[in-house]
Amino acid sequence: MKEVRLGVIGTGGMGSAHARNILAGKIPHLRLTAVCDIVAAKMEGFPADVKRFNTSTDLLTSAEVDAVLVATPHYAHTTVGIEALQAGKHLLVEKPISVHKADAQRLIDAHTDKRLVFAAMFNQRTDGYYRKVRALIQAGELGELVRVNWVVTNWFRSQAYYNSGGWRATWKGEGGGVLLNQCPHNLDLLQWLCGMPVRMRAFCNLGKRHAIEVEDEVTAYFEYANGATGVFITATGEAPGVNRLEICGDRGRLLVENAKITFFRTECSVRKFKDESPSMFGRPEVWTADVPPAQGGGGQHNEILTNFAAAILDGTPLIAPAAEGIHSVELANAMLLSSMTQSTIDLPMDAARYEAHLRQLIDQSAFEKDGACDAAPADLSTSFNTNPN
Ligand SMILES: NC(=O)c1ccc[n+]([C@@H]2O[C@H](COP(=O)([O-])OP(=O)(O)OC[C@H]3O[C@@H](n4cnc5c(N)ncnc54)[C@H](O)[C@@H]3O)[C@@H](O)[C@H]2O)c1
Repeated sequence: MKEVRLGVIGTGGMGSAHARNILAGKIPHLRLTAVCDIVAAKMEGFPADVKRFNTSTDLLTSAEVDAVLVATPHYAHTTVGIEALQAGKHLLVEKPISVHKADAQRLIDAHTDKRLVFAAMFNQRTDGYYRKVRALIQAGELGELVRVNWVVTNWFRSQAYYNSGGWRATWKGEGGGVLLNQCPHNLDLLQWLCGMPVRMRAFCNLGKRHAIEVEDEVTAYFEYANGATGVFITATGEAPGVNRLEICGDRGRLLVENAKITFFRTECSVRKFKDESPSMFGRPEVWTADVPPAQGGGGQHNEILTNFAAAILDGTPLIAPAAEGIHSVELANAMLLSSMTQSTIDLPMDAARYEAHLRQLIDQSAFEKDGACDAAPADLSTSFNTNPN
């Protein structure tokens, strides 16, 4: 195989943006051969040699594609994704890989044929700032994790955004709000950088700033096995927002904000200083360094697509293996469950419990959406919030 024939399933805002980039020749060795959407009008405008399908089953049983990119609303990531893997297609699934942990596990379990490449669109993993932070942590430069704080409130969304699709910001259609739509990127990076916590207590405000039934403001506190603590704050109704990530370790503090990494590095281990210093009020000496982002990369969505094709053709390691996507789903689920049950949730969490909880929210929902729904595909170019600024 010299090139990968790709089908895009779900040609709304994101799927059509990916399709346009592929058609523009921006992704080496990836050719768009088919598109699929349950709304025929969403497939207008593609060149005549790109086949159109009204159902994923029709596309997957055709001989038109080697691989698919699933960019439907989130619940269908699981169902269509399983269908794709069972049909023997390589799969790139948009974030979140599923709405809830039990579905994420079902999707991952369907990946039995390991010759198939199964990746997730965690495009922010290509960002040079976060890659550098990860490299510093993995090299031991920061020492043992002490505390992480991430305030990411620059995901502002208007009411018009929420009104733009019937599925958006409903338990039934989306399964959550900011935690399931905007923050899968941040939650994935959080676990990629710091690992998974062991317990979670969170406060999620539902429809606080918008006429929606799901969360648009979140404050979460969590703890890691080594006693390190974390706080994650996000919102879609606050402006101007901020994106400030601070990670404290035994060798200092890393700050990522305004497209800049600052490393406040202690000259020695903070713990050692605390235990051995004869001084009552002395503090470890600190060197402050501006750290450049990692070189190269930064290609966001197109880099993930390029990496997906290279993984299929040459076995290049994936930037974002889809199996790792279960962690961001679990963090989001745990925050919602903690908030709604007003309790601390132990992690790994009980997936069946959360699925039952979500089912109840769907069954009890009496929410009616206002405004025009299912509008034409939006231009998502200003929506990605990529650089940490
Ligand atoms: N990686 C990113 O930066 C990023 C950015 C935006 C959206 N997304 C993700 O992309 C997905 C789609 O979001 P969007 O904003 O493009 O939504 P959208 O509503 O604009 O598009 C979804 C499309 O899927 C179609 N569809 C629904 N069910 C389908 C099915 N079973 N088979 C085929 N087509 C189906 C709809 O008709 C619609 O055209 C979401 O999961 C979202 O989280 C990712």
